[in-house]
Amino acid sequence: MCGIVGYVGDKESAPILVSGLKKLEYRGYDSAGVAVVNRNTLNVVRATGKLKNLENRVSQEVPKGTIGIGHTRWATHGRPSDENAHPHSYKGVAVVHNGIIENHLALKEELRAKGHIFSSETDTEVFAHLISDELERGVDLVEAVRLAIKQVKGTYALAVVTASDPNRIVATKDSSPMVLGLGQGQNFVASDVPALLEHTRDFVYMEEGDLAVVTAQSIDIYNRQGQKVNRPTRRIDWTPMMAEKGGHKHFMHKEIWEQPRAVADTLRGRMLLSEGDIHFEGWNLSPEKVRSLSKVTILACGTSWHSGVAGKHMIETLARIPVEVELASEFRYRDPIVDGTHLAIAISQSGETADTLAAFKEAKARGATSMAICNVIGSAMTREAEFSVLTNAGPEIGVASTKAFTTQLVALYMLAVKLGRMRGTLTVKQAQEHLTHLTEIPKMIEDVLKCENSVKRVAREFMTAQDFLFLGRGPMHPVALEGALKLKEISYIHAEGYAGGEMKHGPIALIDEKMPVVVIAPKQPHVAYEKIIGNIEEVRARGGKVIAIIDEDDEHVASLADHVVRIPPACALLAPVVATIPLQLLAYHVAEMRGNDVDQPRNLAKSVTVE
Ligand code: M6R
Repeated sequence: MCGIVGYVGDKESAPILVSGLKKLEYRGYDSAGVAVVNRNTLNVVRATGKLKNLENRVSQEVPKGTIGIGHTRWATHGRPSDENAHPHSYKGVAVVHNGIIENHLALKEELRAKGHIFSSETDTEVFAHLISDELERGVDLVEAVRLAIKQVKGTYALAVVTASDPNRIVATKDSSPMVLGLGQGQNFVASDVPALLEHTRDFVYMEEGDLAVVTAQSIDIYNRQGQKVNRPTRRIDWTPMMAEKGGHKHFMHKEIWEQPRAVADTLRGRMLLSEGDIHFEGWNLSPEKVRSLSKVTILACGTSWHSGVAGKHMIETLARIPVEVELASEFRYRDPIVDGTHLAIAISQSGETADTLAAFKEAKARGATSMAICNVIGSAMTREAEFSVLTNAGPEIGVASTKAFTTQLVALYMLAVKLGRMRGTLTVKQAQEHLTHLTEIPKMIEDVLKCENSVKRVAREFMTAQDFLFLGRGPMHPVALEGALKLKEISYIHAEGYAGGEMKHGPIALIDEKMPVVVIAPKQPHVAYEKIIGNIEEVRARGGKVIAIIDEDDEHVASLADHVVRIPPACALLAPVVATIPLQLLAYHVAEMRGNDVDQPRNLAKSVTVE
């Protein structure tokens, strides 16, 4: 949720920390701060609000020193304020923390009884007090951190610097992400790779329970048992430019327009057209295993859950395996029926979403074979999975997920074809047809992006609406859900996504002449075209305004709707990829016209690493 950066080397650390935090602001953005150590002096600067407030403060009183830590916050405990911003410090110990300490109230009580005075409402501050207590007992910093984390219950990625030990950062993690960036005469820690791309491409992903001691010259990692361990170094191909806006006003806009490239990169090297098959690097499911699967359970949250719903249509149609799509946040709080004949697929852009990760572990513990569809190599989800399909979307910075969704859809489609071939439900010829459809998708996305101006006109007309309804049937149902989520999260307009057939079971009561209804109605057999036309008639009869997403040549629906956006005709199961694009643009332009902070909408964070 929040972002962490740490630096130790021979350069001034404050500018490096602030620039790293800028790359992480999407993870949390209600306050920020840095702590810098100079010889034996600790200097902490913090500011409420956007990062530019911290930048201003740092430029007025530049904290000097070549080692430091920084943080951008998304509040969990305590409102956004200077006092609650990280780093938290106590007696020369400064900490930044992502995660939640569940027993912080009890720990605070114990510490208060010993005379400690707290200056914030946060759970994090207890770390600074616990570590300082241990240091006062005479142990060294590494041991003090180890003893402190033994006392807490909860989740954390933690980085610590101290005035008394001014040459090293101690970092540790459990259930929140933390990476180490390797440099020459300098090293880094961060919660996320984009923070460090301008300095290094070589990263070590810390594992659960790891503790790292980072100096300018060395990085030593210890596992939960205190044994020194080697973790692999990974070279990340992402360029710093990929984490920049590249001339677009917002990351979200850039990421919408990147989709032809992102989808092409996700397909690249995987389609074996002449064999009618898919090549996934490292695929480890035998034909016997695939044939014996009795169920696929998809676990995901938010937009990734919507792609799972579309994936259900794809896998059930092409591979004839029953698929359940579970909200990860609900899954493990019942007694889910999972066994060794099931394939559990976690879908996640970040690979760090706490609910998805926990549900995934639960499914594994019950015997399921595990697979991740994920955008971040080396993330917790890919480390947990027996096999991963990477969506090569590149870093997604806008909080509203766009290219992650469409790349997940094509990854799921490839998976459905692969499973279909292995189970014998698709012939070579049929699979070849599906692969041909896939190869056409990047160009179709390019074409549909040309609708931006007509979408803008719709956005202008409805930007002051109070409610929106999105309707779709069959594979267009998840598109309706996704369109509504996109709109509500960045425009703050109330929006509902519904399966068309459900409208008459309740939502129809909402329709009046003020209600815009977006109907996703390409002419496809699966989307029950005739039936969705029935929905359009029902909306019209009640005075609602119809915005229809239709095939290029569909004059019939065009004559019924108030506004149309025309899209190129894709095959039924892939049409969601194409039909989603105008809805992303609609949400973007409505939010932009309302003057909202598109990339960092209120109350949200990019990676939800707390439950
Ligand atoms: O990183 P993940 O795909 O696991 O994230 C899941 C959701 O938090 C995410 O899709 C969220 O719903 C987005 N804000 C949607 O735009």
